Amino acid sequence: MELKASEEAERRPTSCGGIIRPFIPESEIHRRVRELSAEISRDYRELDVLMVGILNGTILFMADLMRHLDFDLTVDFVGISSYGDGTTSGNLSWTKQPGYPVRGRHVLVIEDILETGQTLDNVLAALQADDPASLKSCVLLHKQRPDFSPRPPDYCGFRIEDHFVVGYGLDLAGKYRNLPYIGIYQPASSVTVEVIEIEVRFWSHFKDLTGVAVTKLQLPSGCRVAEATEKILSKWPSLEPHSQSALVAVGNEYATEDRILSAGDSLSFFPPVQGG
Ligand code: IMP
Ligand code: MG
Repeated sequence: MELKASEEAERRPTSCGGIIRPFIPESEIHRRVRELSAEISRDYRELDVLMVGILNGTILFMADLMRHLDFDLTVDFVGISSYGDGTTSGNLSWTKQPGYPVRGRHVLVIEDILETGQTLDNVLAALQADDPASLKSCVLLHKQRPDFSPRPPDYCGFRIEDHFVVGYGLDLAGKYRNLPYIGIYQPASSVTVEVIEIEVRFWSHFKDLTGVAVTKLQLPSGCRVAEATEKILSKWPSLEPHSQSALVAVGNEYATEDRILSAGDSLSFFPPVQGG
């Protein structure tokens, strides 16, 4: 199944200064994991299976996958450092060795994400040397990169475009593995904020206080009336004493503080009508 990033999704700020855009929702991950489990159960039911997850990115995927497998199996993890000491490809450096013998067993290697394919290839080559009865791979994500075409995995959760993804086990510098969904990480430098322009009108004596009847104001898209008001008060501090009693409208309708503004909106400020 192929997924494209949604442009409309909500954004979550990160401590690394970028943003995480929700990409594959938790419900979609669980749906697909159940499908994969059913497929794997069908293929391996009568066999002596050893499932080997590559640490650390597969922790959540393994946990969810294995709880839906309805046959006896042995579960193991291996650790591999792929970039660690600059060793050449194929020269594997284990941070955790396999804990069970591989010989004669049906081995299914689980990986979080396939990019160049080097990590998975290295693990497969090392396990193959120990003479398993069969050796297959299952990856949660396969990142489609034009410059690499790794050997396709036997089972694949999602094929995705070339993004850096985090969550559901996947990390950025050790963080965000605990997010229950998969998000796309966008560094701060690539985040552009869309700007909208609205019209601002001051009525009655607010017009005299500001010296302005109508003006234009630029705001970040998604901005609410409350943020726009704050910006207006900082530009025309003479309005400040009236800010609590002022009436605010967008177009012809009174607006609450949390109303989201759109480009071209007309935001009016006027004093409360004096009763008589
Ligand atoms: P490969 O060896 O080039 O296939 O890269 C796969 C490994 O790099 C995975 O095991 C991940 O640990 C890491 N990796 C690759 N792409 C991402 C990503 O988008 N997010 C988090 N980790 C990634
Ligand atoms: Mg990894």
